[in-house]
Order: sequence, then structure tokens, then C-alpha cells
Amino acid sequence: MGRAPSRREQSCQDAGVIQLPLTTERLELRALTMSDLDDHHRLFGDASVVRYLYEGQLPREKAVPHLATRVNPRPPGEGKWLNLAVTHDGHYLGEVGACLHSAEHRQCEVGYVFLPEARGHGFATEAAAAMVALCFESLGAHRVTARLDARNMASAAVAQRLGMRHEAHLRENEWVKGEWTDEAIYAITEEEWRRSHTP
Ligand SMILES: CC(C)(COP(=O)(O)OP(=O)(O)OC[C@H]1O[C@@H](n2cnc3c(N)ncnc32)[C@H](O)[C@@H]1OP(=O)(O)O)[C@@H](O)C(=O)NCCC(=O)NCCS
Repeated sequence: MGRAPSRREQSCQDAGVIQLPLTTERLELRALTMSDLDDHHRLFGDASVVRYLYEGQLPREKAVPHLATRVNPRPPGEGKWLNLAVTHDGHYLGEVGACLHSAEHRQCEVGYVFLPEARGHGFATEAAAAMVALCFESLGAHRVTARLDARNMASAAVAQRLGMRHEAHLRENEWVKGEWTDEAIYAITEEEWRRSHTP
């Protein structure tokens, strides 16, 4: 989420405006609830999952407040994230997010974080594509980005599969978990997205 919405203030589009759950061919994207606590902690408590996120492994004692900021859809606001659980046949696979960074400039960002065992099936791309569609169709986005640690090749591959263009490589622009990191920026405009989705 970009890298992930994890350390940013969380919020979301009102469920009355965005009809939840969202469904794709194989997946359901639904609101998170506190009953997702064990899975949420399994996700963000995994060292391999958070390797390229801003945050470190989520300690169990912080899992409740971490998840609590992501439940209960509320009206949207600039800089706020909508985070959803992704499930397949009722099984939690991970989480995706969308953020309206600027209403004036109609800029959105998407993020995606999946359990290790849920990878390699195209689920992340399928779920993230639904979030990109949501940005264009419900949040009024003109452009949608994915921002990631430039070393995160799995995330870059998702961005490319979403049809995003590699727009920038920012050299050592962030100090994350004790080291300077490069950031990669991928993006797709509304026109590009609509063109690729017109039969
Ligand atoms: C980034 C992340 C979500 C990517 O997950 P992923 O499962 O590799 O991505 P996809 O859903 O696009 O799956 C693609 C893989 O599924 C395979 N696949 C299998 N069946 C498929 C199908 N039906 N449709 C599409 N792809 C399929 C693809 O061939 C591809 O395999 P490959 O990686 O060997 O080339 C995952 O690595 C992750 O959660 N990382 C930790 C958190 C993180 O860094 N998030 C990003 C922050 S910016």
C-alpha cells in the first residue's frame, strides 16, 4: 500500500458511496473488522511481508490499534486510506488500499500486501486492479500511482501488470528503518486506463 498505507492515517470512502464488498473474478474485497485480528497480525507481523514497507514487524500487543485504524469505513478525506481485506473462498489473503492524495489534482495511490502463501496466483494484481478501478470510477482520480521501495521487484511487477508506467526512480530519497532507500514511482492516467479497458 504504495509501499503500504501502514504508517499513514487510515480512513476510507463511505460504504454508502462505495458499494462493499467489491468482487472480482476470484476475490472479494470487503471492509476489515476486528475479527480479522489474527490474520492482520499474521500479515504485518511477518518479517518477509514488511521487508520493504515503512514499518517493522508488528508486535502482537500493537495489532489491535493497528487494525482498529483500518476498520469502519468513514467519509473520504485527502490523505486518508481505504483499506480492505482480500478473501478467496472466504479465506483471508491480505489487504489492499487506496488513498486520495489530492482532490484538487485528482491523484490517488494504491497499495497491496499479501500473505506469503497467497502469492504466485495473481491475486495481488487482481485485487489491486479492482482498487485502481475504484480510484478512477468512484474517487474521481485522474492519475493513480504505486510508490515502492525500488528493491521491491515483486511490487514493481504488480504495478507493471496493472498497466502502470515506471515514471521515476528517486535516489535515496527516504530514510527507512535505518538506511537510505530509493523509491520507485509507477503510474497510470485515467485515459490510459480507460483505453486499456475498452473492448
Ligand atoms: C507485492 C506482492 C503483493 C506481490 O504478490 P504476487 O503474488 O507476486 O503478485 P501477483 O498477484 O501479481 O502474482 C503474480 C504471480 O502469480 C503467477 N500466477 C499464477 N496464476 C496466475 C493467474 N491466474 N493470474 C495471474 N498470475 C498468476 C504469475 O505468473 C506470477 O508469478 P511469478 O511471481 O513467479 O512471476 C507480494 O510480494 C507481497 O505482499 N509482498 C510484501 C508486501 C509488499 O511489499 N507490498 C508492496 C508494497 S509497495
